Amino acid sequence: MRHIISPLDLSMDELTEVLELAEDIMHDPKKYSECCHGKKLATLFYEPSTRTRLSFEAAMLNLGGSVLGFSSADSSSAAKGESVADTIRVVSGYADICAMRHPKEGAPYVASIHSAIPIINAGDGGHNHPTQTLTDLLTMKHFKGRLDHLTIGFCGDLKFGRTVHSLIHAMARYPGSKFILISPEELRIPTYLREEVLNRQEIPYKETRVLEEIMPELDILYMTRVQKERFFNEEDYIRLKDSFILDSAKMRYARPDMLVLHPLPRVNEIAAEVDNDPRAVYFTQAKLGVFVRMALILTLLNISV
Ligand code: CP
Repeated sequence: MRHIISPLDLSMDELTEVLELAEDIMHDPKKYSECCHGKKLATLFYEPSTRTRLSFEAAMLNLGGSVLGFSSADSSSAAKGESVADTIRVVSGYADICAMRHPKEGAPYVASIHSAIPIINAGDGGHNHPTQTLTDLLTMKHFKGRLDHLTIGFCGDLKFGRTVHSLIHAMARYPGSKFILISPEELRIPTYLREEVLNRQEIPYKETRVLEEIMPELDILYMTRVQKERFFNEEDYIRLKDSFILDSAKMRYARPDMLVLHPLPRVNEIAAEVDNDPRAVYFTQAKLGVFVRMALILTLLNISV
């Protein structure tokens, strides 16, 4: 039985297979519409979500399966003090596969130890978000036709942004990746990522505080929201929340083929006027998340067509 807790839980070959399967599903969804008949997906979301939970549910429904679950800790017995370990032991008897989001780093890993069904980490605190990474990879492959030799600018909250952490892990595995890290001083990437991934693997990277300066170098601009829910102090959040705002004026510095990705939700960091720019692909990115989650469910349930 396989779990997906980290973006590195799939080998490069498996990752390629999942992305190719997602592309095949995208082109011929009918072929897969009954693959999970009789199977159930549990979505255990202890933290708010729109895209991840609903795209997981859409994915299972598109495959002919069913879904059950909860969308907040308050509406589950976690509110009475039940542990993640006990919850997953019980849910293992109700479903065939589970997607779990939790505010505590490592909670989906704890669940995987006690689970009789595959666990997919749907976001754990400020740590990882591997299925967002699969979505990001599929989006880049879809629009760029490759995942190697890309220069990616990560902009915003690089400290708490789990989508950034997971995507850095994933892109570090592709040859020719270069990273430009654009953040306020207080929201720089965590030391463990800098030391264990960037330095140890000798990935070329640089850091800057000025977005416009580095725009002409980028193949991908990965914008992120400042993660209000991870701040201990509201004053700090208010001071930092609008550090970077991408607007049409800044887009003029970018190459004609640069892509703007964002895991969403966005708050202020991308002005609405950018939405009409053909390089802004974040809403398509959210849509592609359904196909890649369908591919992942099929892979973890060992179902082939
Ligand atoms: N990208 C993402 O994880 O969005 P949600 O928080 O809405 O699931």
